[in-house]
Amino acid sequence: MTRSTAPSTPPLDVFESEHEQVIHCHDEASGLKAIIAIHSTALGPALGGTRFHPYASTDEALRDVLNLSRGMSYKAALAGLDLGGGKAVIIGDPKTIKDETLLRSYGRFVQSLNGRYYTACDVGTFSVDMDEIARECDYVTGRTVAHGGAGDSSVLTAFGVFQGMRAAAESVWGEPTLAGRTVGVAGVGKVGHHLVRHLVEDGASVVITDVWQPAVDRVRDEFPQVKVVESTDELVASQLDVYAPCALGGAISDEVVEATSAKIICGAANNQLAHPGVEKALEAKGILYAPDYCVNAGGLIQVYDELEGFSFERAKQRATGIFETTRTVFETARQDGVPPAIAADRLAERRMREVSRLRGMWLKG
Ligand SMILES: NC(=O)c1ccc[n+]([C@@H]2O[C@H](COP(=O)([O-])OP(=O)(O)OC[C@H]3O[C@@H](n4cnc5c(N)ncnc54)[C@H](O)[C@@H]3O)[C@@H](O)[C@H]2O)c1
Repeated sequence: MTRSTAPSTPPLDVFESEHEQVIHCHDEASGLKAIIAIHSTALGPALGGTRFHPYASTDEALRDVLNLSRGMSYKAALAGLDLGGGKAVIIGDPKTIKDETLLRSYGRFVQSLNGRYYTACDVGTFSVDMDEIARECDYVTGRTVAHGGAGDSSVLTAFGVFQGMRAAAESVWGEPTLAGRTVGVAGVGKVGHHLVRHLVEDGASVVITDVWQPAVDRVRDEFPQVKVVESTDELVASQLDVYAPCALGGAISDEVVEATSAKIICGAANNQLAHPGVEKALEAKGILYAPDYCVNAGGLIQVYDELEGFSFERAKQRATGIFETTRTVFETARQDGVPPAIAADRLAERRMREVSRLRGMWLKG
């Protein structure tokens, strides 16, 4: 299994992609149109959230789910979890079509895969939706605390990003701390606002931006010392030591690499590199990029823990390991003479290869 770098566009012909199984789910009566993509089960059952989004076309939805499910395989592999990679998309506007019948219908399709795919929350789905799906299905994580679930995964996602950022700081400045550094956070939603707290507590100066004023106000109410700028462009152009993209994918373009003064880029957003090759531009400019799926694995670690009966402390302990994993990625990058994004891919691929090889050893039962 080879892959150039995170956001490359996968082929739309499923037989030309690396995916094991792709399932189209259709229930006319409830309006359900969904696609479940299982990229790999080399390390265990595929786990990934269900994105509920009004895609413009089925092709667009398919492309997204193929891309996202592949990312999950790499994220789980690098985080050392016994999970494969999968993802699902439900096509439509959740604000208008999401209801009990549709979610339960979707749950029956997930159930039909008999545990090859576990679902969880993603954009457009929440823990309460997982509770509905679980009425028809045994393979659901990210459930509400009232139902034994882990609840909001952004807490440990932010904690993990902070650990990755500490490892990056150590690599660049010799000490695993952001104290005295200026960190720009683009997007202070569920993950970003928790990240701001970790940074302030560590002694960093924080600059934020968000397109949604209530998100900005919430951070300013809690941390009046945080500086606010109008736009991501303004943030990127300001004097920063670290840039943390915590909004949407594709945040690191050639223009951003050119404009930023940051020495480190490390944030929560998925698929940050706008196109293959940006990782080389980052390296050429001397910017250390902490690969997105390496540092944002805290949420996956959290829902994975739910499969054993959730313990926040155990999950947090495991998310602390993101510091060491990020260090290993940087060391491998140095040893192999490649950018960290490529090193992360290599480490993930090595684990998938080596662990799945063990399955070739016959065991009775
Ligand atoms: N929540 C998790 O556990 C988790 C786990 C892994 C990765 N991620 C990724 O991290 C990112 C943030 O996730 P979240 O759960 O905090 O989402 P969220 O929707 O709660 O927060 C995103 C924030 O970004 C803001 N935003 C959107 N477009 C923007 C723009 N152009 N400029 C500035 N701000 C903008 C939104 O207003 C919002 O406040 C996403 O890319 C998500 O895929 C989240």
